[in-house]
Amino acid sequence: MRLLEACRQPYLVRIPQMNGLASGLRFCDVQRVCSKPDGLDEVLTQTRANGGALGGVVMMLMAKNATPAEKVRRHVALSAAVTALGGLLFGYDTGVVSGALLFVKKDFGGLSSFQEELITSLLLVGAVVGALLAGRVADLIGRRFTVLITAAIFVVGVLLAAFTPTYPLLLVARIVIGLAVGSASMVVPLYIGEVVPPRVRGGLVSLNQLAITAGILVSYLIDYGLSGSANWRLMFGLAAIPAVLLFVGMLFQKESPHWLIRQDRIDEARDVLRRVRNDDDIDAEIRDVQQVSRKQASARELLSHSVRPLVFVGVMLAVFQQITGINTVIYYAPTLLQGAGFGSSAALLANVVNGAVNVGMTIVAIWLLDRAGRRPLLLSGTAGMAVGMAITACAFLGGENLHGALAIVAVIGLLVYTGSFAIGLGPVFWLLIAEIYPLRIRGAAMSVATMANWGANFVVTVSFLTLLNAINGVGVFFLFGFLTLVALAYFWRKVPETKGRSLQEIEHELTGSRA
Ligand code: BGC
Repeated sequence: MRLLEACRQPYLVRIPQMNGLASGLRFCDVQRVCSKPDGLDEVLTQTRANGGALGGVVMMLMAKNATPAEKVRRHVALSAAVTALGGLLFGYDTGVVSGALLFVKKDFGGLSSFQEELITSLLLVGAVVGALLAGRVADLIGRRFTVLITAAIFVVGVLLAAFTPTYPLLLVARIVIGLAVGSASMVVPLYIGEVVPPRVRGGLVSLNQLAITAGILVSYLIDYGLSGSANWRLMFGLAAIPAVLLFVGMLFQKESPHWLIRQDRIDEARDVLRRVRNDDDIDAEIRDVQQVSRKQASARELLSHSVRPLVFVGVMLAVFQQITGINTVIYYAPTLLQGAGFGSSAALLANVVNGAVNVGMTIVAIWLLDRAGRRPLLLSGTAGMAVGMAITACAFLGGENLHGALAIVAVIGLLVYTGSFAIGLGPVFWLLIAEIYPLRIRGAAMSVATMANWGANFVVTVSFLTLLNAINGVGVFFLFGFLTLVALAYFWRKVPETKGRSLQEIEHELTGSRA
């Protein structure tokens, strides 16, 4: 039976539970087998064998006569797609600057290192403010409206960057985009976390990291594709497409049921929950959320005896994620490689490979996180980052200009570093801050960790090129390698394992109290 025919049969879309993007068929595989007689059987067999998600999602989206359970999964899948757009924009807008910088500086008549740093880093200042405001705004006017406003700010910011006549206005545009990036990094996972059923929440949190890395890779590909025409305006401007899609996609989404419950809009909340839960969960969930909302936590509770150490762990993870240098590679690799003697096209191509390794290893991490656990990935990934930095530093030992084999060694070092980040500290930071905090203060504590992340990102980014001039590549890369070893020692001692436990169990163990 052919797939399209089959999708008209309701019973045929009952396939295994979604369990993250870890397994299942690739889209092109589905298309390939669909054109064969008996193609559907092959899809089902392979999807079941893999416990898979993607084939299932594809079929759910195509199924017209879905049963209530399938409709639930379809709504969840659509919410995940919206998440992906928020993460994609986060990644695209932060990644695109690496290639665009090469051409922006020529257009504005040669910029100093500091002026270049401002283009990259003012986005991060905006992001700190955006992350701070988004939590409060989302509590006041709802998650959905906040995402809509965020998407609108994205559109305004990227269009301003694309059409800016002057350098100062480009800086303003980067701050505006930053507000949206910071807000999206907070509110989109918050919204999705409240909309999707708990059993798929872990996978979807890390799916956000996958979307970030995919956004970075797409931005590199576009930078590379447009490098011939040096069209940095289009590099910035293309982000308007996913931003508009996020806005339109969100118009068709419902408000977060948890937020509705907190506003005492129980009937509306029940209506939304019916779309995204199976019936049996709904009343218990409404009661749970009502109970939690009654216990109003004050900001002071973040400093209470039981919670303070966890807030500290989250902030340390955030700071280490940044001061070990990931974004100097993500934002400045082409500038670095060009300085080391690569042509601008070769530098951008090496950057694309780096972005692809980032995406690929994030997929591996998503697959491994619920199997191997968070700690093994975090520890081995961080150790790998130190090795990568050491290799890159050694390549620069003989001088700043790299030739032949040494250039390849430097690139290999960067790839080892990025791949190791992607399998550990990249996804594990965002996952842990969604897991380790008591429910009452989760939003506030996540906001603190997110701001610490953007703040540390800002400090590193704004000082990187200046630092590079002062202590050269060898010094900077050895410094990052050293900080990575400090991070490793800290993680070894302080970061808990959260694999396979309910959030309530984690809360009980980490705070020594009942939820
Ligand atoms: C970090 C970003 C970084 C990205 C790279 C994220 O986890 O928070 O700062 O650019 O990973 O993949």
